Amino acid sequence: MSESDKNSDVNALWGGRFAAGPDALMEAINASIGFDRRLFACDIAGSRAHAAMLAAQGIITAEDEAAIEQGLIDILQEIESGRFEFKAALEDIHMNIEARLAEKIGEPAGRLHTARSRNDQVATDLRLWVRETIDRLDASMRALQSVLLDQAEANVDAIMPGFTHLQTAQPVTFGHHMLAYVEMVGRDRGRLADARKRVNESPLGAAALAGTSFPIDRHATAGALGFDRPMANSLDAVSARDFALEFLAAAAIAATHLSRLAEEIVIWSSAPFGFVRLSDSFSTGSSIMPQKRNPDAAELVRAKSGRIIGALTGLAIVLKGLPLAYSKDMQEDKEPVFDAADSLELCVAAMAGMVGEMTVNRERMLAAASAGFATATDLADWLVRELGVPFRRAHHITGTLVREAETRGCDLSDLPLSYMQSVEPDITEAVFDVLRVPYSVASRNSYGGTAPENVKAAVTAARERYL
Ligand code: ARG
Repeated sequence: MSESDKNSDVNALWGGRFAAGPDALMEAINASIGFDRRLFACDIAGSRAHAAMLAAQGIITAEDEAAIEQGLIDILQEIESGRFEFKAALEDIHMNIEARLAEKIGEPAGRLHTARSRNDQVATDLRLWVRETIDRLDASMRALQSVLLDQAEANVDAIMPGFTHLQTAQPVTFGHHMLAYVEMVGRDRGRLADARKRVNESPLGAAALAGTSFPIDRHATAGALGFDRPMANSLDAVSARDFALEFLAAAAIAATHLSRLAEEIVIWSSAPFGFVRLSDSFSTGSSIMPQKRNPDAAELVRAKSGRIIGALTGLAIVLKGLPLAYSKDMQEDKEPVFDAADSLELCVAAMAGMVGEMTVNRERMLAAASAGFATATDLADWLVRELGVPFRRAHHITGTLVREAETRGCDLSDLPLSYMQSVEPDITEAVFDVLRVPYSVASRNSYGGTAPENVKAAVTAARERYL
């Protein structure tokens, strides 16, 4: 065996330069196969496009290309059926697949990596993976909007207290509240769609960092893989990970929205509130307290936003000091992307399940909306509108009446007219209309407001816009 053959046993893909194999710790810290195996389908798609282009450009022969193509199809099958043996010694998904291809087809396998590097290969793979994930997420977020819209429609006139500072503020409808989340999820989808445009450019053919001297056709591989165009700069192509950051930023914001809804569900489903009841299938019991119905799924959605935001922060920190072009640090991009994607997909689906199956307790919500002087603003507005009192003075008069009602332990509408008139002589019997909660809600019919007729129209409009 010649010296160079012996050395290539160290590592078939880069062993030529090395006399000894890696330390076990070197292998442990270096290997990414434990997580990047998830890129197998993207990696094989990228390799097939590359091989077809090499043949079309006359860089490899048609026979070699056919062997490579068939070998890759077989490997895809092996992996999908669980028959593929992943090896940590082969470091990553790219080398695992290439080594297997060599086992299967021999020499032509060695031609696949012509005019390519793992640097452009991995960037291509991850872009393909993120693009697919965005498309899947878009569909599941749309499904979430659909159940939110169903709840909104069923509850266009279900009155609940609206809160600021979690203090009763003004009555709103539950339908209106659901529609607020429909809008948030709509913007989340928009952010992902926007990120997708920048994800969808092809790094393939940038090679290690500088491009290649082979007469490749980057437009062809870009087109074959569904990318909009090849990336314009080879250094940028292999070192850019802002597409991953953008994906994570969009994911983090979406998770933040889900977390807020989750928090509301935790509050609403608590015994003192009792606004909603989660279905049995989305509740858990307590091993010690038989009465408990815990909103664990909502709590976990709330918590998982933490790790998704953490993924964004973590990757930004990995990237911030890296010189161009590729550094091995960039291998650390995958776990945060995968983990955030998995977590978000699970959260969106669990939230759709919870929202779809929760039941709304209209009586409890109406009772809560009727307490806490939720119509105080309506009273102040009435004083302005009907009596021409300046708003600041109307606010003061109303405050005095609220204080009195509080002292008497009654609602605003239970105060005698005579008492009201002792504070403001021009108040008439007509004021009692506006103190009624349904009146309050129905009167807020400004564009985007909570009036049931608005909410009904808004449901229709949102269905058209998003579904
Ligand atoms: N596993 C590597 C990664 O995920 C692939 C690229 C390796 N490139 C290199 N020059 N070592 O980033």
